[in-house]
Amino acid sequence: MTDTVGFIGLGIMGAPMARNLLSAGHRVVAWNRSPGPLEALAEAGADAAESPADAAARADVVISCVTASADVEAVLLGGDERPGAIDGVRAGAVVIDMSTISPAVTRTLAARFAERDVAYLDATVSGGEQGAIAGTLSIMVGGPADALERVRPVLAALGGRITHCGPSGAGQTVKLCNQIAVVLNNLAMAEALVFCQRSGVDPAVMLEAITAGAAGSWQLSNLGPRVVVRDFAPGFKVGLQQKDLRLALEAADELRVPLAGTALVHQLFAAVERAHGADVGTQALVRAIETLAGVEVGGRPNGTSNGTSSGG
Ligand SMILES: NC(=O)c1ccc[n+]([C@@H]2O[C@H](COP(=O)([O-])OP(=O)(O)OC[C@H]3O[C@@H](n4cnc5c(N)ncnc54)[C@H](OP(=O)(O)O)[C@@H]3O)[C@@H](O)[C@H]2O)c1
Repeated sequence: MTDTVGFIGLGIMGAPMARNLLSAGHRVVAWNRSPGPLEALAEAGADAAESPADAAARADVVISCVTASADVEAVLLGGDERPGAIDGVRAGAVVIDMSTISPAVTRTLAARFAERDVAYLDATVSGGEQGAIAGTLSIMVGGPADALERVRPVLAALGGRITHCGPSGAGQTVKLCNQIAVVLNNLAMAEALVFCQRSGVDPAVMLEAITAGAAGSWQLSNLGPRVVVRDFAPGFKVGLQQKDLRLALEAADELRVPLAGTALVHQLFAAVERAHGADVGTQALVRAIETLAGVEVGGRPNGTSNGTSSGG
């Protein structure tokens, strides 16, 4: 038997995730703040809700995938603008937040929903836009194990690896570990590309050679080729990455754990944000290293620009 899923937040990640739920045979009642993505999903077979509360009222399982902690609070708890999912959700339902937010805010939200006899899971994801489209996300879950088993068929439509990480907030904590590893891989890729360019070797050839070896990473395979063709369109936006690094650095500060490399990348991304905006893809980290080195990857082999750079 398939569930009716209330889906809140149809951004880069949420829209393809909701489509995969439809393809798996679930009924989807969706809500998005701006109308465009909602209309597009309705054409694919979803029902449109009038508010997060309306989506929740018509669903067995409620999924949110919005931006930051305050945004999750806005759609789940509601506010002056509109009622939140908590105002409509049925007792016995399961709420799954798939955004990347603070573990502490997550635990507070779980307690609020528990008062309504509603289980709350933090089910953060990794795998990027491509993983969301392909339904191959890695899903890191915190919260009650029985609630996870209840919604596993829903999550299975979105991702291949579903890991129960521990109690409420544990999924968010593991996601922050993921982000620490991701940004350091991104920095490694950026430095390798700039060094290669300055050395006069074709960066595309370098990527082909090393992606299959010990240096291989998701960043290198998926984002490296985009840098070579100067494609800085977002799968994952720099502004969102910075939000996650802030969460990681705050949590590390509380734990008295130094994260020297992560802090460095956070600063380099600040330079990228200032020069190119928060909506470029995270592969734009290379632009900070390029500026330091006076080299543009994809330019002439000696490192000078060939004029193909785009701001996007
Ligand atoms: N993109 C990735 O590769 C990736 C990977 C893993 C995890 N994530 C995480 O997944 C979440 C979503 O990322 P995304 O890339 O899909 O972001 P996105 O494309 O910027 O979409 C954000 C979505 O949240 C909605 N939203 C934001 N603030 C809201 C508010 N206050 N009230 C109501 N709706 C609000 C937006 O609505 P509008 O359409 O009205 O703006 C939009 O639907 C983030 O927490 C991100 O860190 C992203």
